[in-house]
Amino acid sequence: MNNTMNTVNTHNNQQSRGIGEFPAGRPPQTDFNDVFDNNLDYPRLGTVTFRRGSLSDNQLATFEKHWPELGAMLADERVDVDTWFGRSGAPTIVEIGSGTGTSTAAMAPKEPDTNIIAVELYKPGLAKLLGQVVRENIPNIRMIRGDGMEVLMRMFGPESLDGIRVFFPDPWPKAKHHKRRIIQSGPLNLFASRLKPGGVLHVATDHADYAEWINELVEVEPQLEYKGWPWPECPQLTDRQLITKFEGKGLEKDHIINEYLWVKR
Ligand SMILES: C[S@@+](CC[C@H](N)C(=O)[O-])C[C@H]1O[C@@H](n2cnc3c(N)ncnc32)[C@H](O)[C@@H]1O
Repeated sequence: MNNTMNTVNTHNNQQSRGIGEFPAGRPPQTDFNDVFDNNLDYPRLGTVTFRRGSLSDNQLATFEKHWPELGAMLADERVDVDTWFGRSGAPTIVEIGSGTGTSTAAMAPKEPDTNIIAVELYKPGLAKLLGQVVRENIPNIRMIRGDGMEVLMRMFGPESLDGIRVFFPDPWPKAKHHKRRIIQSGPLNLFASRLKPGGVLHVATDHADYAEWINELVEVEPQLEYKGWPWPECPQLTDRQLITKFEGKGLEKDHIINEYLWVKR
């Protein structure tokens, strides 16, 4: 696989602060209302940006060996997808908040002609996915560590993606934390701007209150046509293949899985 990526985040930089580590200080948090000159609602990140966790010795060794090729940190330069995946013109889907990558790794082999980029803040989650990608030799997954909103805005151009997936986003159940939810009018607008016409946004939640929240927002973004669920003619894979840890918990509690599909007009 080709290990060249067109970002400012050189391997030397990564090594000097530890591979897969954020630079010292607070990660960039864009004032999206200012940049996009709108008054839409954007998530307040809270402490989520600083999620940490330790890796086992095995995971660390895998991370050090394979992250420079298969992973990247949030950076201020666009991803050169064709170079990174070593093929040109393949459709590209970004998954925001891939967690441990359970559904990412289950879906990718079923869509071998699609480039999958998993975006996650949580390093141990990325390390787990990276381990699976290496062990199972899954050729079409790459990973970016960073806040999904910043990654989309800084690293992907307008109308550059074929799909965006957000599976089981943190529900932030307390009313005072609702403003941290990633599904809001602002992110929907950013997702729409990054999708090509015909591109698909796929969201799933097992949280009843979050589902009600999303129901209120399905028509809020004019660039997105709401298709509901299921949408049998959807041009890309929508079967998540398996029940993730989070989804499993939901099912145990008798929660219903709500899924949402939109197409970029
Ligand atoms: C409830 S978990 C679901 C993980 C996975 N999608 C699944 O279904 O198993 C939500 C994940 O989103 C990640 N996350 C939350 N906010 C994020 C953001 N702004 N950008 C990227 N990842 C984020 C969290 O670290 C967490 O791993």
